[in-house]
Amino acid sequence: MSAETGSTEPSENAAVSDLLASFLSETDSLCTAAKTAIAAASDGSMLEKARIEFLGARSGRLKAMTQLLSGLTAVDRPAGGKQFNEAKATITALFSAARERIAAAQTKDGLAVVDAIDVTLPGERVRIGHVHPLTQTIRRVQEIMSRLGFESVDGPEVEDQWHNFEALAIGAEHPARDPLDNFYLAVAQGTEPLLLRSQTSTVQIRVMEKRRPPLRIVSLGRVYRPDTADATHYPMFHQVEGLLIEPGTTMAHLKSVLHFFASSFLGGDVRVRFRPSFFPFTEPSVEVDMEWDGRWIEMGGAGMVDPAVLESVGYDPDAVSGFAFGLGVERIAARRYGVADIRDFYRNDVRFLEQF
Ligand code: PHE
Repeated sequence: MSAETGSTEPSENAAVSDLLASFLSETDSLCTAAKTAIAAASDGSMLEKARIEFLGARSGRLKAMTQLLSGLTAVDRPAGGKQFNEAKATITALFSAARERIAAAQTKDGLAVVDAIDVTLPGERVRIGHVHPLTQTIRRVQEIMSRLGFESVDGPEVEDQWHNFEALAIGAEHPARDPLDNFYLAVAQGTEPLLLRSQTSTVQIRVMEKRRPPLRIVSLGRVYRPDTADATHYPMFHQVEGLLIEPGTTMAHLKSVLHFFASSFLGGDVRVRFRPSFFPFTEPSVEVDMEWDGRWIEMGGAGMVDPAVLESVGYDPDAVSGFAFGLGVERIAARRYGVADIRDFYRNDVRFLEQF
């Protein structure tokens, strides 16, 4: 080279060997391809495919460039290495950015939650409720009585004087009608006051008024009396009412039915005992006791339906006879489940209710 040409210092470009030039341009196009692929990745798996293609440790395209890099001359290698490192840093940064972009989009769609499920964690237990012990008792009584042909019927909880008292031969002067012993409802003046029924015997009347004998019905439901709540009393409780009207019915049938019921409900051969008593709507009347664990427990009242009651519903007392009984649901449930305080049935404390 002559001094005239003035080319004392080689320009950078002039110093670039062909090999280095092709290395540099290949690095550039690799960078461009990676940018395109990363930008096109719209989900995690597409991005991962691109990552393997460009940054894969074994056969990634960047890895392949290292082969070319080592093929450069010692003079070219620093420039090539610098370019290579920059390309690698650029592509790696693009991947991190793309990963964040995709994760953010998934969270928006609610899909990140799916990704975040750890199947090795114990599941969340679903707490399933169950039927209240009193309702269980009611259903069980209905089921047992249905085996003897007793159909389950319902009656209203707000009653009139006729169904709660008069048709049941409970006269106007009877102490059971005392306002202090009943929940009378305030009604317009001149109208006969209604009340919350104090017994399920009302249903006997309602059924007999509508149907003719033979009849076998059982009715379970709430009754109301202004009692002070204690371990065995509550102003609202439940009764089972049974009624059978068929020609030739006797007290022996009544006792057999109650014996069958008690034995089925409490399990084993439960003894049943009658004690003389009085109810205006049965004649004769008895208190029903059942023996449980060597103890006699009072379960309710019963008797032969009084002819006056049959007459009040238009039956001929000379042609039909029948028996009726009324038992306390809380009492028999408390017996069966060993509950000492009936108020526990109404407290809605799951620690109590869960046990049944
Ligand atoms: N109704 C009565 C009571 O509540 C129970 C009973 C029902 C008695 C049927 C005899 C016949 O105490």
